[in-house]
Amino acid sequence: MKTKVGRNDPCPCGSGLKYKKCCALKQQQSAVEPLKDAYLRKHRIQLKEPKDIEGIRRCGKLVVETLQAVEAAIRPGMETEEINTIVHKMTVARGAVPAPLNYRGFPKSVCVSVNEVICHGIPGGRVLREGDIVNVDVTSILEGYYADANKTFFVGAPGPEAEKIVRVAAACLRAGISMVRPGNTVGDIGWVIQDLAESEGCSVVREFVGHGVGFEFHEAPQIPHYGQRGQGIPLAPGMVFTIEPMINLGGKELRVLKDNWTAVTRDGSLSAQFEQTLLVTDEGCESLTPYRL
Ligand code: MF3
Ligand code: CO
Ligand code: CO
Repeated sequence: MKTKVGRNDPCPCGSGLKYKKCCALKQQQSAVEPLKDAYLRKHRIQLKEPKDIEGIRRCGKLVVETLQAVEAAIRPGMETEEINTIVHKMTVARGAVPAPLNYRGFPKSVCVSVNEVICHGIPGGRVLREGDIVNVDVTSILEGYYADANKTFFVGAPGPEAEKIVRVAAACLRAGISMVRPGNTVGDIGWVIQDLAESEGCSVVREFVGHGVGFEFHEAPQIPHYGQRGQGIPLAPGMVFTIEPMINLGGKELRVLKDNWTAVTRDGSLSAQFEQTLLVTDEGCESLTPYRL
């Protein structure tokens, strides 16, 4: 008596199809967990669908245009408060919400970080001077989707130290992006950034990391800007996260001011940062907040 159904035999369910095209196939499919479910279960990572990606890309376009508007306005003598006003007005005018405003008690609509300020600078009365560097970090919420990007600008003509730290920080984001493709890992990104920064005699901030983004401001996974090749979560198509290396001219140590936000270099050295929101594609990487690096 024949007990095993052959793959080319009629399916025992009576469909009339071959077993391999019917119940055998269904069984096989249900045995392989979809990547989306596996990433959520194992890593708490929400892979994005095409409609989500379109939404984040639209938000990213607004973020990049906001950074361009700020860049055009930057000049010696301006208060950092004016940058907040530009970002707030432009965001609201486009029907979006500035994500930083009231986020965990942050009091303004954008982070503005001058010279030795690493990140999370609160806009206010500080006046930009010729030769300063200023990072502007914009995160918008448009139609429920988040995009997050920042750039460091020169105020007037830079001195050699300002030129160096901005050049190295931009190169670090470029290097990180070059590692983004399916099969590479989160550790590959951190490793290449740390390797480049330290080869230039600069240091990588440890306390703040890149992050998943899109449905919320900060999602899994964390993307450290230091680490080891081949370590950590493998990148998969549909992942959306930031890379945002904070690079110091001196030591990596920081301290947070009494406002509980402003992070500054312990040694007072210059710090620069660049950030983009990135999508892992089948082919590699697409920036959802593209600007020339
Ligand atoms: N935009 C920052 C980031 O890149 C986060 C700023 S949090 C805030 O993740 F509350 F300071 F806005
Ligand atoms: Co970010
Ligand atoms: Co940001």
